[in-house]
Amino acid sequence: MKNIYSNIFPFNEKTLNKSVANLKKGSVMGLPTETVYGLAGNAYSKKSVNKIYKLKKRPKFNPLIVHYFKSKSAENDVIFNENFFKLYKKFCPGPITFVLKKRKKSKINSSVTSGLDTVAIRFPSHRIVRSILKKINFPLAMPSANLSMSISPVSAWDVADEFRKNIKLIINGGKSKIGIESTVIDLTAKPKILRPGIIGPEIINRVLKTSIAKKNFKIKSPGMLKKHYSPGIPILLNQKTFNKQHAFITLGNKYKNYKNCFNLSQKSDLKEAASNLYKTFRKIKKRGFKKIYVAKIPNLGPGIAINDRLKRAAN
Ligand code: TXA
Ligand code: MG
Repeated sequence: MKNIYSNIFPFNEKTLNKSVANLKKGSVMGLPTETVYGLAGNAYSKKSVNKIYKLKKRPKFNPLIVHYFKSKSAENDVIFNENFFKLYKKFCPGPITFVLKKRKKSKINSSVTSGLDTVAIRFPSHRIVRSILKKINFPLAMPSANLSMSISPVSAWDVADEFRKNIKLIINGGKSKIGIESTVIDLTAKPKILRPGIIGPEIINRVLKTSIAKKNFKIKSPGMLKKHYSPGIPILLNQKTFNKQHAFITLGNKYKNYKNCFNLSQKSDLKEAASNLYKTFRKIKKRGFKKIYVAKIPNLGPGIAINDRLKRAAN
């Protein structure tokens, strides 16, 4: 794709140093992660955090995730526990976010946590964000790099589409491999999944040797608005038929000859389907469809996270 945006940069020594310098002086920027692209700023700086909320038009009651290079860097900000260490050892760095109790002496700006006494922390695995985190001595507050209520971005161009000229620096790290946001798990009491993701309840149960709820998640994240991730047009779920005027999102290869069919995975692979979901929403919107029909998606493995996002997009 041609780079028509002047704010998208490749990753190299020069842009690494530029990113670090910008973050240090309080700027915010677009960064790739393995899940979705993020809008990053210094989590200890009031100025940076305010910029993030303002740019995203995000309500102040919706807290941000704080990103670190490794667990040691977070020890002065949160209180670890046994469940945290088990999951950290198994999945980090990777697409999982832990809600933990915030330490009194923590330097995290109070807007990041929307005044809560807990913090959501994550250790992203993408090499670009890791090489930046390694060079700074503060963690990054980093929500998905989209306007509040819009679709999470999975490429540098998606980020540029969301914010246009309002951000000066976006690092291009290719398409986000996972393509949906991290699993959010509350570890402050009995473990509870607040936002399903590619790391599902089955494997978490195996690691923790407990049983967390499989579905019907009671959403208690303050920002888990019922309507979210929305492409801004009506979406009808569990559809068996469709017509030519509307976009149809499906799995498998049954409808491959129809121009208005958008296949999340020819092989019906749910992990691949999850990685294509947001990209597909954007494609459909750009083509000008007025309505989206969606076939039934099996509610297992990554399908749980896909259905969670679809339900909220349809709300
Ligand atoms: O994959 C991801 O997690 C991406 C990448 C960029 O790291 N980030 C992301 O951030 O999805 P955001 O801001 O779009 O979603 C953060 C979610 C929200 O639903 C928020 O309510 C929840 O995490 N959250 C943050 N802090 C929390 C807390 N202290 N307690 C409960 N939920 C929290
Ligand atoms: Mg988001």
